[in-house]
Amino acid sequence: MDSKYNFSTKPILKRKPEPIVFNIKNDNSKKIKFEDKSNSLLNKHGSNERRGKLSLQEQKRRLPIFDKRNQLLNLITRYNTLVIIGETGCGKTTQIPQYIFSARLQGNGKIAVTQPRRVAAISIALRVAQEMANGSVGDTVGYSVRFEDVTSKKTKIKFLTDGMLLREAISDNLLMNYTVIILDEAHERTIHTDVLFGIVKQAQKLRNDKQVMPLKVLIMSATMDVDHFSQYFNHCKAVYIEGRTYPVNIYHSIKPQDDYQTACVATFFKIHKQAPPNHDVLIFLTGQDEIEAVCYHIRTLLREPDVEGPPARVFPLYAAQSSAQQMQVFQSVPINTRKVIVSTNVAETSVTITGVKYVIDSGMVKVRSYNPATGFEVLKVNRISQEQAWQRSGRSGRESEGFCYRLYTKNQFDSMCLSTVPEIQRVNLANVALQLLALGIHILNFDFMDKPSPESITSAFEQLKQLQAVEEIFSKRLTPLGSKMAQFPLDPRFSKILISSQEYGCVEEALTIIAMLSGESILFNPPSKREEAQMMRQRFSSAYGDLIMLLNVFREFNKIGQSNIRSWCQEHYINLRNIVYAKQIRLQLQELCEWCHIPISSCEGKLDQIRKCMLTGLFMNVAELHRDRQYIMLSNKQVVNIHPSSVLHGQQPACVIFTEVIQTSKCYLRNLLTIEKDWLNEIVPGYAKC
Ligand code: CDP
Ligand code: MG
Repeated sequence: MDSKYNFSTKPILKRKPEPIVFNIKNDNSKKIKFEDKSNSLLNKHGSNERRGKLSLQEQKRRLPIFDKRNQLLNLITRYNTLVIIGETGCGKTTQIPQYIFSARLQGNGKIAVTQPRRVAAISIALRVAQEMANGSVGDTVGYSVRFEDVTSKKTKIKFLTDGMLLREAISDNLLMNYTVIILDEAHERTIHTDVLFGIVKQAQKLRNDKQVMPLKVLIMSATMDVDHFSQYFNHCKAVYIEGRTYPVNIYHSIKPQDDYQTACVATFFKIHKQAPPNHDVLIFLTGQDEIEAVCYHIRTLLREPDVEGPPARVFPLYAAQSSAQQMQVFQSVPINTRKVIVSTNVAETSVTITGVKYVIDSGMVKVRSYNPATGFEVLKVNRISQEQAWQRSGRSGRESEGFCYRLYTKNQFDSMCLSTVPEIQRVNLANVALQLLALGIHILNFDFMDKPSPESITSAFEQLKQLQAVEEIFSKRLTPLGSKMAQFPLDPRFSKILISSQEYGCVEEALTIIAMLSGESILFNPPSKREEAQMMRQRFSSAYGDLIMLLNVFREFNKIGQSNIRSWCQEHYINLRNIVYAKQIRLQLQELCEWCHIPISSCEGKLDQIRKCMLTGLFMNVAELHRDRQYIMLSNKQVVNIHPSSVLHGQQPACVIFTEVIQTSKCYLRNLLTIEKDWLNEIVPGYAKC
């Protein structure tokens, strides 16, 4: 089997694109059947006019929340803590901060509104700035996300990721900048929001005890978990805002769809053929590779001469995109053109994209989960929860009756978990334990809404001890190194690398590698041109592995004159926006290093220096080649494989470190670097148990 390229994105890419949809069109046996066959419904609804012609003020007035304005303001004035529940799209995030601001309830302080995701923080800030008398973002309304702060002294309403507010709490645990803190999308239960629950609750109490500026806390959620939130916040008052949602016709597939990507494409074309052009389609998939593959596939098929349906524009949406790319999904498309958005769960509740009439739900989501027994966090594609399924289908019924095609059977739906497990109970807690210690709080004493397991707390401390951030397991204090690590907005392993790079004389190189790894995919691998892309990037390749290749790419990129950058990126299949973004991240990390008195040094060509330096943070991620040609992880003896996208795929280095584990049918390692095994003893004496 040719699984060299992109095995993780399922068979869709291995087939020639044409037969998939058109076979399905012509061949009944391959048609995906849905339980409700009322296809005629597809044509019945909606006019051919696009939305967006109403003035912004008129749109605001028409939101379900509008009628509740005064009632809400009364409640917010009266209570210092309030839980607000309301259907996605009813106007919570965009309107409530404006209501508070216009009634001056924030007094002399600011209003903070947290979002679990960057794209939501930015898009909502832009929207609110626009709604408030066409102001530009950065004035009264601003946003702050990792590596990007668009606020000024004038900013009164600040949208920020939950991670950013947590960082602010490290320098001021009373959060004195704010008089109102809105923890939005609380139902998502991201690890940062969960920690913030405890931090703001404590800040509110401390400010009350000290009789300094009172803090108002609003918890906003799109689901009905009122009791849980209210109980935690000392049985605070909860209000429910009724949404204006329209009925959604739900169709389950008759048979399970193992190849859900192909099923998404096929279902899209089924809709595309019949629905009016202004009925937009939102497809839920799990991650970048898959989304890009499906976008590519749909775009290719749309160019076929015999495809039936209006012109269409396809937009991917996932976390690792740059902000500018993400913003494209909000642009309007020409009249009589269909918009197709292929998204991760970011479009579930965080952002509202108008015009969506059809939802195609793969039923899958990519989650990070941590197994304290093996000590590894893996990215895994899992089934969504029933709650998520409802949220997804709800996206189609925002403006009129909607349609949702679920690519799973009714039985599969019934066997899904009712709600999603909070992230705090399934991820590695080392970073949270470190950040809490920097705040002077011990994770064991922290007032969590849902407690993480004792095993995962122990395991987090083991990791911090190995990284020398604490001296003892369960220590109440950070070491000086640990305190330094907490200054960086990075995973503790990478903060450690950056700090040790001073000792190894390779700060330049460490900065580059970490910036290049910071979320954005630098390499562009269009499904049809994978081999060509790899060939064109051959010159950057390194026998030491992917991390050195990224270093080479960045060095070359920096040598290219501004006018040639675009063509150079195209030629080498490098994602221009992402590498430009990586450069910005690098600059910010460099400034942080300077601020922490880490002088910027370079090891030039002495690559052993940077290889050793990477090991100072990634020594827990070592895999070794065994006699039977298999790789085994040193820490837990698990059998693993080199990911086919790695430059080391097909080679068999004796010992490697990696940054990421992906679990599909097998366990794969990504972002590799070869090391010498002897270095382990030299660099982390006592760690190498074998
Ligand atoms: O927070 P909630 O889900 O309740 O709604 P919201 O984010 O405040 O959005 C309210 C409405 O504003 C949405 O239904 C959209 O119609 C509109 N909106 C928009 O057009 N563009 C944005 N970037 C954000 C919201
Ligand atoms: Mg919202």
